[in-house]
Amino acid sequence: MTAKLNLSVDEVLTTTRAVRRRLDVARPVPRAVIEECLDLALQAPNGSNRNDWHWIVVDDRATVRAIAAEYRAALGLLQSGAMPSPRYLTGAKGEDRMVAAAQEFHEKLDDIPAFLLPLMAGKVEGRDAFEQAAMWGSIVQAAWSFMLALRERGLGSLWATVSTRRAPEIFDLLGVPQGAYTLIGTFPIAYTIGTDFKRAPRAPVSEVLTYNRY
Ligand SMILES: Cc1cc2nc3c(=O)[nH]c(=O)nc-3n(C[C@H](O)[C@H](O)[C@H](O)COP(=O)(O)O)c2cc1C
Repeated sequence: MTAKLNLSVDEVLTTTRAVRRRLDVARPVPRAVIEECLDLALQAPNGSNRNDWHWIVVDDRATVRAIAAEYRAALGLLQSGAMPSPRYLTGAKGEDRMVAAAQEFHEKLDDIPAFLLPLMAGKVEGRDAFEQAAMWGSIVQAAWSFMLALRERGLGSLWATVSTRRAPEIFDLLGVPQGAYTLIGTFPIAYTIGTDFKRAPRAPVSEVLTYNRY
């Protein structure tokens, strides 16, 4: 069993952050730690308990660099305007700080100890909201649980979806059958530099909650 920080559940839930600057790329991550976190993550619920997800960990140096190259290519598409920017990327509070941190992360991409690529079975294109909700709802909790389990063990990650713009190329690279899966992101895995993380600034409950009607 891996060393743990022994945080409370509430501490883990409130301090699991998007880690970019504080990823320690010099410290190797044993596969046993990743497998322990994934074992916990797989306890998350999934529709009809189908377990039809697939998870790829990339830790071979040449393949990490190839994934990094695809990540940069996806960013290039975004920055050149060849692909539209998602709504959440523009005009957000603290955007400048986030962009600076993202830049630092991009500079470290080649040295990330490992990436986790969660694969959701099937494609959402052409499916109605019910089917899509069941599909996303059958992978997102597990991926988040993986990040929570990392946090408890002194590691960090980042929910990074930009790379999905290059999913076909990434699938070719890793031998994933085209059309069978949806890539939900490339999650870096690394020990964090220091283990003290804070609550995030979020709109308070009083601003976002209503009872009984909108
Ligand atoms: C759906 C989703 C997609 C994201 N995609 C990226 C991404 O491609 N690159 C990146 O640097 N951060 C990405 N993030 C991280 C967010 O920018 C980060 O969660 C946000 O700034 C809030 O920070 P916090 O998670 O530490 O509270 C993504 C987060 C989510 C939930």
